[in-house]
Amino acid sequence: MSVLQGKKILLGITGGIAAYKTAHLVRLFIKLKAEVRVILTPSAKDFITPLTLSTLSKNEVYSSFYNEEDENAVWNNHVDLGLWADLMLIAPATANTMSKMKNGTADNLLVATYLSAKCPVYFAPAMDLDMYKHASTKESLITLQSIGNILIPAASGELASGLVGEGRMAEPEDIVSFIENDILNQLPLKGQKIVITAGPTYEAIDPVRFIGNHSSGKMGFALAKAAAHLGAEVYLITGPTKEQVVHSLIHRVDVVSAQEMYDAVHDVFQESNIAIFSAAVADYKPKNKVDQKIKKADASLALELTPTPDILASVGKIKTNQYLVGFALETNNELENAKKKITSKHLDAIVLNSLNDKGAGFATNTNKITIIDKNLNSEVFNLKSKDEVAQDILTYILQNRQA
Ligand code: PMT
Repeated sequence: MSVLQGKKILLGITGGIAAYKTAHLVRLFIKLKAEVRVILTPSAKDFITPLTLSTLSKNEVYSSFYNEEDENAVWNNHVDLGLWADLMLIAPATANTMSKMKNGTADNLLVATYLSAKCPVYFAPAMDLDMYKHASTKESLITLQSIGNILIPAASGELASGLVGEGRMAEPEDIVSFIENDILNQLPLKGQKIVITAGPTYEAIDPVRFIGNHSSGKMGFALAKAAAHLGAEVYLITGPTKEQVVHSLIHRVDVVSAQEMYDAVHDVFQESNIAIFSAAVADYKPKNKVDQKIKKADASLALELTPTPDILASVGKIKTNQYLVGFALETNNELENAKKKITSKHLDAIVLNSLNDKGAGFATNTNKITIIDKNLNSEVFNLKSKDEVAQDILTYILQNRQA
């Protein structure tokens, strides 16, 4: 999944021959599941049609403050458009438009919207090589960057004039990866490795039966997604679940038993920065696994159980700089029990959820949590979706890790 998924992108196209490439650029953004709106300067329409762009972007295309030919025309509000966007991209950016952006010459909808936008603005210049080298253009490039705009540099190559040199607009694929990398580099968990355990474990009784629990994996998967959206490289170690996740930063490791989860966690824990244990690990397993299906008998059946390894406690003992967060699922004496786990498992914080709270715990799409730190300070959160709970937990970690 791209960091551009769900992002609102405002594409401003100005009047240069490279405008024809923006059809492909819009396609790439849409394929990455971004939402795209397009503003054309009047001269951009000489190079690409609004119809092409509205068809590809699946949105109305704007090119003036209002439609002069329509007597019922409505005002295209540049402020609303500017505020709508998560990011604005001006591509191609001609020398003329860059100069207007620099000077605040808002004589068209695109520049007026640019001046209203509060989001990051990227610009990808395109022009002939002598124009690109001109002192006036250089001044625009320097000023625009100095006031916070992000330059996507022009490439060298054959230009529309037939000359060869610097001034070609960056290729659409390169523009997309430039923006993706730029966003990724600014994410707060960029370069951090997070281990997340999720789901239940199954402890085999015989080839057809197991000891398990009701964990669906939803909480752990929500945490993995939220961590990846913040730029972390995630090791998601999960027991059996129907949950799915596709994200280039999430490495999913499927396990079945507590012992397998233990091994997978220890493979990656030492090199991690943060670990969050949301899995509901079985505390006991049958002492002797039987290779054949146990036949029904009239007499009662006694199953001897033996403890599974406590994975969280085991990493608590060897942790160095990792910020370690456990979960506690309780049914009684909730706070007291959760606090004991902080000490016994050497945690930095624990996330308490109680089966006494409606909508909290196993298999629901919501959860209600209290986070307790190792000094036993607690913060209570409202009932929220598991996605929101995951964001709360990661925000808490980001705020408290440095503290
Ligand atoms: O998966 P969902 O349906 O979305 O449900 C989410 C959840 C209810 C499973 C989750 O929010 C949760 O509470 N997970 C922890 C459940 C649990 O096993 O709690 P515990 O109090 O028994 O364990 C304390 C901590 O030790 C947990 O972090 C657990 O992962 C860990 N543990 C426990 C036993 C064990 N052998 N190894 C462990 O690592």
